[in-house]
Order: sequence, then structure tokens, then C-alpha cells
Amino acid sequence: MKKNIIYLKSSEIMSEIPDNSVDLIVTSPPYNIDIKYGNKTSKGKVVESKGVKYSDKMSEEEYREMLRKVFEECKRVLKDNGSIWINIKNRLINDEIVPPFWIQEYFQDMYLKNLLVWNFDWGGSTNKRFAPRYEFIFWYTMDKKNYTFNLDDVKVPALNYRPDRYKSQLKNPSDVWRVSMVSGNFAERTNHPAQYPERLIERVILAGSNEGDVVLDPFMGSGTTAVVAKKLKRNYIGYELVEEYLEMANNRLKNVGDDDE
Ligand SMILES: C[S@@+](CC[C@H](N)C(=O)[O-])C[C@H]1O[C@@H](n2cnc3c(N)ncnc32)[C@H](O)[C@@H]1O
Repeated sequence: MKKNIIYLKSSEIMSEIPDNSVDLIVTSPPYNIDIKYGNKTSKGKVVESKGVKYSDKMSEEEYREMLRKVFEECKRVLKDNGSIWINIKNRLINDEIVPPFWIQEYFQDMYLKNLLVWNFDWGGSTNKRFAPRYEFIFWYTMDKKNYTFNLDDVKVPALNYRPDRYKSQLKNPSDVWRVSMVSGNFAERTNHPAQYPERLIERVILAGSNEGDVVLDPFMGSGTTAVVAKKLKRNYIGYELVEEYLEMANNRLKNVGDDDE
């Protein structure tokens, strides 16, 4: 199996990856909310078009069928002690919130270890309801008991530390993660319309894999998962449909030096 490569093709068929060979899958699927992937956008409008490379506006049935195929492939390639972490959010469809709990149906044969809430400060504005300021991360393992979870690598300072009571000044982070969105002035910012922050994925990769492991992202976008994997001395494999994003990802990866961990 080739490692440290992003394929320019759909992840509905991942024939490049053998069964049982990936340690960790980290991804954020497309949401089917008509994001203009492959085009330069500003405030949701296309300002520079190179032609739509991927339609984020399928029928709901088509969309869910596409995800079903990708997640079936994910389960095929995942090792028995592997896990999959999926970042997904509520959608607004016909003025109604549609929460993403329907993805549970794809993972009946896996174990939901955490439903994490990623909380951030800013995002789309609205005066018709409260402003949306969180997304979810569903964490599933293949095995109920045997899975990688490096808690010591992701512990955080305990604000209520008392030397008479606790052995350590560090504690287990909660299931609510407060991490800033990638704002315009972040060095990591690209033109991808749905980029997730490196800091969010850093915790996932540290907790869910070990150095030398293989990390897969079937919806690679601008390459965030691969960049963080490389920085943390893991191998990456990815899939992406839009050539501009593949180039973006490869350019980001070139800038991760061997001494950049
Ligand atoms: C939500 S974005 C991922 C963004 C990524 N996490 C980042 O930080 O840049 C989803 C990506 O999946 C790509 N995509 C959609 N369907 C795909 C498929 N079937 N196979 C591979 N990539 C796909 C889209 O072009 C888009 O770049």
C-alpha cells in the first residue's frame, strides 16, 4: 500500500487500500448544502469560477447513498483496533434545523465512544434564531474495548488542581472542545470553503493513533488531516475530487518540514 499520498478521485471505491490496514480515519464529509466547491466564494457567492467540480446539491437520497458507500469502504480498510472520527454539523434545510444523528445508521456495527461538541466563537450570523456556534465529532471504534486512546498525550491543565487531592496537575479534557475556527488571519487559512482547524485535528490524531500509524481522510479538502498527520509523524492517505484542493493540500504538505513537529 502506498502511503503519504492523496488520490484525485472519489472515495466511494478505495481500491488502493487493502482491507484492515488503516489505524485511524479522521474526516469532515460534504454537507450537501450547496457549497460552491472548486470556486472562489465570498459570503456564499461565487466570485471567481473555474467550473463546479463537485455538486454539493444532490438529492438527499443520492447524498446519503454516497456517504454510505464511503463509510462502508472506511470500515473495510480500518484495522480491528482502529477508529473513525467524523466532524459533522446541523444543517438548515427549508428553514428547519436537521441534526446529523442520521449518520448513526451507518455505524450500527461500531461503538460510539464519544459524541464531542466542537464549540467556537464566530461563524454565520442570523437574527431569526440563536447563532450556531458548535459542530459535532462522532467517534466510533471497531472494537468495544481494544482501541487506541492516548489520554496522556492530550491531557490539559486542571484549573481546580489541589495537591492534597489530586496526583496530577493535568486532567482528561471534557467532551466539549473549544477551538477557534480558521479565521482569515490564520497562517493555515486557504481558499477552501470548509476548512477545519489544525488544532482540532491535532487532538484527534494524538489521542487516536501512534507515531508511524496510517491516518486516512476520505474527504481531504485542503489537506488539514494530512498536514497534522505529517507534523505528528504519522502516515496519511487521502481522497479528494477537486484538483485545486489536491494542489492546495500538496502545497501545504511541502511546507511541513522534517523539523516542524
Ligand atoms: C467538508 S470538505 C473537507 C474539508 C477539509 N476537512 C479541510 O480541512 O480542508 C469536504 C471535501 O470533500 C470533497 N469530496 C466530496 N465528495 C467526495 C468524494 N466522493 N470523494 C472524495 N472527495 C470528495 C469536496 O470536494 C470537499 O473538498
